[in-house]
Amino acid sequence: MKYVTLFEGDGIGPEITNSVIQIFNHLNIPIIFEKYDIGQILYEKDGILISQESIDSLKKNKIALKAPISTPIGKGFRSINVQLRIMFDLYANIRPAKSYKQIKSRYSDIDLVVFRENTEDLYIGEEKKINDDEFIAIKKITRKASRKIIKLAFEYAIKNNRRKVTCVHKANILKMTDGLFLEEFNKIKEDYPSIISNDLIVDNACMQLVMKPENYDVLVMPNLYGDIISDLTSGLIGGLGLLPSVNMNEEYAIFEAVHGSALDIANKNIANPTAFILSACMMLEHLGFEKEAVLIRNAINHTFNDLENCTVDLGGKASTTQYTQNIINNIGKQ
Ligand code: NAI
Repeated sequence: MKYVTLFEGDGIGPEITNSVIQIFNHLNIPIIFEKYDIGQILYEKDGILISQESIDSLKKNKIALKAPISTPIGKGFRSINVQLRIMFDLYANIRPAKSYKQIKSRYSDIDLVVFRENTEDLYIGEEKKINDDEFIAIKKITRKASRKIIKLAFEYAIKNNRRKVTCVHKANILKMTDGLFLEEFNKIKEDYPSIISNDLIVDNACMQLVMKPENYDVLVMPNLYGDIISDLTSGLIGGLGLLPSVNMNEEYAIFEAVHGSALDIANKNIANPTAFILSACMMLEHLGFEKEAVLIRNAINHTFNDLENCTVDLGGKASTTQYTQNIINNIGKQ
């Protein structure tokens, strides 16, 4: 039996969490979820954003499945997502984007993996007021964190037979910070002569990925660009509802969908749970339940053959619960 810390999140979080639990129960996967409230919901109940019990659970289990958590815009508390990543030094955020032939999008053959540095850059949240009309934010890039994420991207490329690693940066303007990231990329690439490597300025990267995504494979970048580029790659495969991710280091891993809490569609039973289910599949693979992960991935693929019976964002008419049941019904079908 494996123990996993579960954060249900808010917005659409509880609905998509329910989908995962139903599928896992159907397959009798020997995982016990230790469930904790987090963020706004916990704050309203107990006046705290994250409980010590949940931190202790994650320290013990080393693995969490986390649904999205809302972060107030412009004011209010600091992102719990960012706090968790920094608290556990989850330096790598890995976001694979792969096309499904059944899902209509501008491309049919996307297979990109974004490696986003997850603990520094503008996300350290150090902002200062100069006066009422002037504010500054600190962008922090260190050699150590840059090296770790760049090496991980190349190691992933080797292990997964990928052909190319591209570094995305803005070193023409941010000569010291992004300059350091690029400097480390140029050093580390020398250790991987079998992998094609290149670098792109982030604005050009956006254009190139939209125009010629087939020229790219594994992409590695500082935190903020990774956040933006991975939403772009989700658009290339048909939307945010499809992109899974993991925040990890050598010891801990928190699996989550790339999308947020989608407050505009919360509690309507129309959210697409696929990205979260695929994140749970990444977690199953990480825990050694490869067979179960394949069964679920195949069932999702099979469900996509009838898009009418998928969620609204995929062009269908099914509710979250109906769609989840369709996936369950398709488990075991080829
Ligand atoms: P969002 O990803 O929640 O939503 C963007 C758009 O995509 C919305 O129109 C939404 O309805 C749609 N969408 C997202 N996921 C979907 C799904 N599974 N099925 C169908 N449609 C889906 O981004 P937004 O609106 O910028 O953020 C909402 C909240 O989520 C904010 O408080 C933000 O801070 C938080 N957030 C949390 C993240 C996390 O917990 N890792 C990541 C991103 C945002």
